[in-house]
Amino acid sequence: MSIFPEQFLWGGATAANQIEGAYLEDGKGLSVADVFPGGPHRLALINAPQFDWAINRGKYDYPNQRGIDFYHYYATDIALLAEMGFKCYRFSIAWSRIFPNGDDATPNEAGLAFYDRVIDECLKYGIQPVVTMSHYEMPLHLVTVYGGWKNRQLIDFFENYARTILTRYADRVRYWMTFNEINAALHFPAMSQGLPKRPGASGMRAIYQAWHNQFVAAARATALGHALREDLQIGCMILYATTYAYDANPVNQLMALQEDQAFNYFCSDVQVRGAYPSYTAAMMARGGVAFETLAITAEDLATLRANPADYIGFSYYMSRTLSNQWIEMASGNLASGVHNPFLQDSDWGWPIDPTGLRIALNALNDRYQKPVFIVENGLGAVDHPTPDHVVADDYRISYLKAHIHALASALQDGVQAIGYTPWGCIDLVSASTGQMSKRYGFIYVALDDLGKGSGRRDRKASFEWYKRVIASNGEVL
Ligand code: BG6
Repeated sequence: MSIFPEQFLWGGATAANQIEGAYLEDGKGLSVADVFPGGPHRLALINAPQFDWAINRGKYDYPNQRGIDFYHYYATDIALLAEMGFKCYRFSIAWSRIFPNGDDATPNEAGLAFYDRVIDECLKYGIQPVVTMSHYEMPLHLVTVYGGWKNRQLIDFFENYARTILTRYADRVRYWMTFNEINAALHFPAMSQGLPKRPGASGMRAIYQAWHNQFVAAARATALGHALREDLQIGCMILYATTYAYDANPVNQLMALQEDQAFNYFCSDVQVRGAYPSYTAAMMARGGVAFETLAITAEDLATLRANPADYIGFSYYMSRTLSNQWIEMASGNLASGVHNPFLQDSDWGWPIDPTGLRIALNALNDRYQKPVFIVENGLGAVDHPTPDHVVADDYRISYLKAHIHALASALQDGVQAIGYTPWGCIDLVSASTGQMSKRYGFIYVALDDLGKGSGRRDRKASFEWYKRVIASNGEVL
């Protein structure tokens, strides 16, 4: 008997801006991701206060405009996912394919028809689509003309978008998520809020206001979804990095607690509990922001209360370790800490910590008493295909195996988990660097960082391994 429930959703995850390409095809408008330059300095560039959201081809390359051309290869790509036995496939809908400017009066039918085809292709193989409404790809026009999510008008635009896609696909899609890694805006507001990173209290105020507007927008989308179909599941989605204090120094323990509140829990506390948590005012005050000065109406608070998220979707790649002493820094997924002497790092310096996943699952499920869904996990690594296209990615298998073991232990701990969708199940453009060479997939895509290559797809060793994992419902690892 497997530890995993019979209906457990094994699958994989991607995002439109990182795979589709065809960035202006069939009426699609520009999204923020289309103007993010590629390269190791991407995050520093988009976080610079002078980042101007303009395309400068003389200076930069724009890998998200190309993706892996899933827009044209979706049928053969989904066939490969089906060959692995996927029970579900998490992908996102590009808002700018449906409403090219975000504020358009009518949706773009060609964009809607594309996702009809993707969904139907999944269903053909019995794969449940799991759809993210907004994954780092808001229409650029909403940034350049409206100033991003700190502008309240975006709530109505998003509601309109959510209504359009829910109405169109709710008969075929049961699992949804509103904003990908909504909490990551704390450090990188450009990606999901369309805001430049500004130092000091005014920068933090904009982020908190933008979050509030997103919370209300997500709650309205949840209301719409439930009205359309009672059993629809609309989750929130957070980036969770299990947080440790470096040592037993109470100062470091308090630091870890406060960082947990500020980064890991604040957004999901609001979205799952339907109310701002007790620590809100104190937390905001530490950043120089007075909670009572945010534009929040009584109606907003009622909307949040009435429409909590159905489940907690989260990404987990690594843990973080915090200290008030200067210790060698570690790298990380849109957040970092100091080097943890008990952990090894990935090629990109992210601490590898499967036990941290068991802790995360227990912490989230127990905190909210709602199901959890690991919607991203994986190892970004450089692959070396042989001339005859063999990729022996044992390092990836070891990483995933250890994390699935941790997930199985969490299930035995009593955690209620819906599914597991490793990130970048097919190689795609990295969110933080725009590189193709940072690969997560079971399927190798022959493209380099500048988009050169045949684009051919090859099964890696991890492909056969994951196929067996799914076939045995997690028994054979
Ligand atoms: C998450 C994002 O932060 O991590 C994905 O939701 C992203 O979009 C993934 O690709 C891995 O990060 P990266 O920077 O290695 O692509």
